Amino acid sequence: MPPPLLPLLVLSALSPVAFAKGRITEWPLALLNPPKPHSQHSEFPPGDGVPVVDPPAHTAGYFKLDYKANASLFYFFFESRSQAPDDPLVLWTNGGPGCASELGVFFENGPYRLHENMTLSMNPWGWDLGANMIFIDQPVGTGFSTAGAAEDAVRCEDAVAQDVSRFMWAFLEARPEFADRDFYVTGESYGGKYVPAIAFWIQEWNKGGVGPHINLKGLVIGNGLTDPAIQYGAYGEYALQNNLISKSAAETMAMAYPLCKMAADACTKTQFVTPCYAALDYCKATQYEPIIVNNPGIYTYDIRLRCANTSLCPPQVSRLRSYLNTPEIQRKLGVSKPFHECNRTVQSDMRWEWMYGVDAWLAPLLDDGIKVLIYAGDQDLLCNWVGNRVWVDKLRWSGSEAWLAGQDREWSVAGTPAGMAKSVGPLTFVKVYQAGHFVPMDQPEHAWRMFNTFLEDGPWYTREEEQSRDGKDEQLFYVAT
Ligand SMILES: *[C@@H]1O[C@H](CO)[C@@H](O)[C@H](O)[C@H]1NC(C)=O
Ligand SMILES: *[C@@H]1O[C@H](CO)[C@@H](O)[C@H](O)[C@H]1NC(C)=O
Ligand SMILES: *[C@@H]1O[C@H](CO)[C@@H](O)[C@H](O)[C@H]1NC(C)=O
Ligand SMILES: *[C@@H]1O[C@H](CO)[C@@H](O)[C@H](O)[C@H]1NC(C)=O
Repeated sequence: MPPPLLPLLVLSALSPVAFAKGRITEWPLALLNPPKPHSQHSEFPPGDGVPVVDPPAHTAGYFKLDYKANASLFYFFFESRSQAPDDPLVLWTNGGPGCASELGVFFENGPYRLHENMTLSMNPWGWDLGANMIFIDQPVGTGFSTAGAAEDAVRCEDAVAQDVSRFMWAFLEARPEFADRDFYVTGESYGGKYVPAIAFWIQEWNKGGVGPHINLKGLVIGNGLTDPAIQYGAYGEYALQNNLISKSAAETMAMAYPLCKMAADACTKTQFVTPCYAALDYCKATQYEPIIVNNPGIYTYDIRLRCANTSLCPPQVSRLRSYLNTPEIQRKLGVSKPFHECNRTVQSDMRWEWMYGVDAWLAPLLDDGIKVLIYAGDQDLLCNWVGNRVWVDKLRWSGSEAWLAGQDREWSVAGTPAGMAKSVGPLTFVKVYQAGHFVPMDQPEHAWRMFNTFLEDGPWYTREEEQSRDGKDEQLFYVAT
């Protein structure tokens, strides 16, 4: 149902998108001055066992965004354990919108595992094995990041990209030894929006000579929401494949899909609040809710599990909350802010753009040879692999014909099938076996191998290829210490 014209016009005047996506010259000039670095690196002596920060290799701190009224972005920085001089610099963000990246640090691809007894150990498969990892709490207000003035709130992807680019400029000014490293933007879930936006704008700033050059080489999205117009159309197919709904229920959903698609496309095209909310309501009601109604209590991040109360899932989150609210830990991190895993204000500020698709932002990046890895755990319903695969296949870029002609192959790690991989030119898609929404939590070793293989441009070995190589390549069976 198209929204009535008048409210649409009125609301579009109030649209949170203060400026249109476009060329750099369209950006308000005041925003183009690089920020003054203002770091507050926490420096603390190591404590007992594994310390939460251990300078100089493990630090945490803030960069103040000087062009905003009163906002700072919090981050962890973990230097690569291999210490190789060419290890890349990698930025990771969790999703939400509004959810903190500490979930990544302590339970996914970060260097730590946080145990039930509230002690830390090293994660044998943290991505810091071979990369210098920045974990950022963003948008402002998320996690330990602060937004002390109402006008600092972030309401769209351009603003996300703006703040994170400025954070990176400040970071590289503070740590110039990393300025020449290959740089990758990575993230999960709603990061499916953030990551293309951040990478797109970093590339634009680079081309326009705005700010310090960032050596952008690629981006990675895990179980992302990137093109909702297409991904909502895939819920039925995924649910049917996994016996969550009947064939006739899937058919009913399919009949309602064209209108959902039309509404979601209108959201992306106009970036207006009204059509975006209309699309969200309609698509959710017709493409998603029927699956939930048929599977009461289903854990949407992992269809093998049930979750009676979604605010308590995954269970690691409450552990994270207790740990990060311990005064001792807050002192060590140099923060004094109650930790919530997700900020509901950020969530509601950005909710209007839930249906807004950013896949088209990836085409110019691919055309420039920026590497892209899209991966998805096969047990996640919410941002399922089918939907991600469909938008990847439909993406139009200079290599799209070669992509469609390419082959999916089973990808194996140490003799175990780990997923299906397809890689053509700069684009790679991996369906990860036996993993839900949080792939590095469920399949830590496979997730690290996948990331490392992507960094090295493959190859994605099958089991047979692995066996025939056995003993020939120690690197392949390198055991993390
Ligand atoms: C805490 O739990 C971990 C994992 O179960 C265990 O390895 C460690 O020894 C425990 N530490 C203490 C102090 O109990
Ligand atoms: C949540 O984010 C909003 C918007 O940025 C911010 O104003 C608010 O202070 C944040 N809340 C907390 C508890 O940090
Ligand atoms: C800036 O924000 C912080 C927390 O977000 C708040 O504690 C502080 O009072 C604010 N400062 C000003 C000058 O508004
Ligand atoms: C779910 O858990 C949260 C946190 O413990 C609690 O506040 C909330 O009331 C619970 N909701 C339901 C429906 O049980």
